[in-house]
Amino acid sequence: MKSDIRNKNIVLGVCGGIAAYKSVEILRLLKKHDARVKVIMTANARWFVGPLTFEALSEQPVYTDLFEKSSGDASIRHIDWAREADAVVVAPATANIIGKFANGIADDALSTFLLAVTSPVMFCPSMNTNMYLSKSVQKNLKTLKADGFIIMEPGAGELACGTSGPGRLPEPEDIVDRIIALLSVKDLKGKRILVTAGPTREPIDPVRFISNPSTGKMGYAVAKAAEYRGAEVMLIAGPTHLPDPINVKVVHVVTAVEMAQAVFTNSKHSDIIIKTAAVSDYRPKEQAKTKIKKEKDEIALFLEKNLDILKELGKRKKNEILVGFAAETQDLKNYAQKKLTEKNLDIIVGNLVGQPIGGFGTDTNEVTFFYKDGTFESLAEMRKDAVAHILLDRILERITVS
Ligand SMILES: Cc1cc2nc3c(=O)[nH]c(=O)nc-3n(C[C@H](O)[C@H](O)[C@H](O)COP(=O)(O)O)c2cc1C
Repeated sequence: MKSDIRNKNIVLGVCGGIAAYKSVEILRLLKKHDARVKVIMTANARWFVGPLTFEALSEQPVYTDLFEKSSGDASIRHIDWAREADAVVVAPATANIIGKFANGIADDALSTFLLAVTSPVMFCPSMNTNMYLSKSVQKNLKTLKADGFIIMEPGAGELACGTSGPGRLPEPEDIVDRIIALLSVKDLKGKRILVTAGPTREPIDPVRFISNPSTGKMGYAVAKAAEYRGAEVMLIAGPTHLPDPINVKVVHVVTAVEMAQAVFTNSKHSDIIIKTAAVSDYRPKEQAKTKIKKEKDEIALFLEKNLDILKELGKRKKNEILVGFAAETQDLKNYAQKKLTEKNLDIIVGNLVGQPIGGFGTDTNEVTFFYKDGTFESLAEMRKDAVAHILLDRILERITVS
């Protein structure tokens, strides 16, 4: 995968801030992604978390003392670790380390190591709001940005010190997400991609609707993978429980009509359109203004057809690559290939639903890509993020050739 931190050498710098406990979770998540992580703690960080925790989780010695002798050999640890690193993240980054590094001070293991690093470095500042907004810290952050270092802006909210405002360390999941983005191959840079995801809801009355079990996982995986790889991504999403992907413009919609409006307004300048959304084919012809009461034994619901957004996009298609998804319960190949031709698509991703493997709500899927030239490619069951990356690879191959 082109956004994989497996076996990447990542150094986690931990400073003496109240959020140092969150660094333990950052380390755990990085290890879950099979990264090789080494931890450097400042001496003051040890007031907040014990090095033993990092040592046990990273399965590596923790580096704190610049002058401590490393295990029996004559290596110079701050230089060796800097040379090996594929990426460095300092979280939490105190006002102190930011000030020291912006001014070239190297008086402990972490600050000395940082000066020797040539790989990307991301700082995650975390401190009291007044400290963060102080002229000094802001000036130092500006210097670091100008020098090409990445600053992950802190979140705003209530801080441990009782103040409210910017200064909160972002969630560990989000920090790891940005490390993945940092190390991803940027082969989609300059491409504008529109992705749709999730179900739509078609109201029957103010408290009831028709929908389907789509959770949006496939579309969100595509949007995230494309963003990691440098694309400018817009995601139009029906109701889901998924958090908005970082650095992706998300438009939330509810009904098929809203989905259509959002797609046609935003699709004009797209290089690639990937429609994973499970849009309702029909909507109730009339919507009751008030809740339908349980009075009659039978009631009839009349449905009318929603606009086929994908077909309409196919009609308007110019040079963009248009990809659809087809979830079928039977005869996948025939239905998918028919849709591909009828809707003027470049690729259709087909999968059988109602099967034990894949489909709605799961983290994995077993899909077949059907191409415009009549060929197809069946993939084994794999995670939806892996499917997303292979799909983006195939799209890129088609853009490169045409
Ligand atoms: C209880 C407590 C909490 C602190 N939290 C922070 C913090 O969140 N961010 C920060 O920049 N400094 C914080 N400090 C101040 C730093 O610990 C102090 O500036 C120290 O010199 C930082 O050293 P280091 O950057 O080498 O780890 C805190 C200090 C104390 C006593």
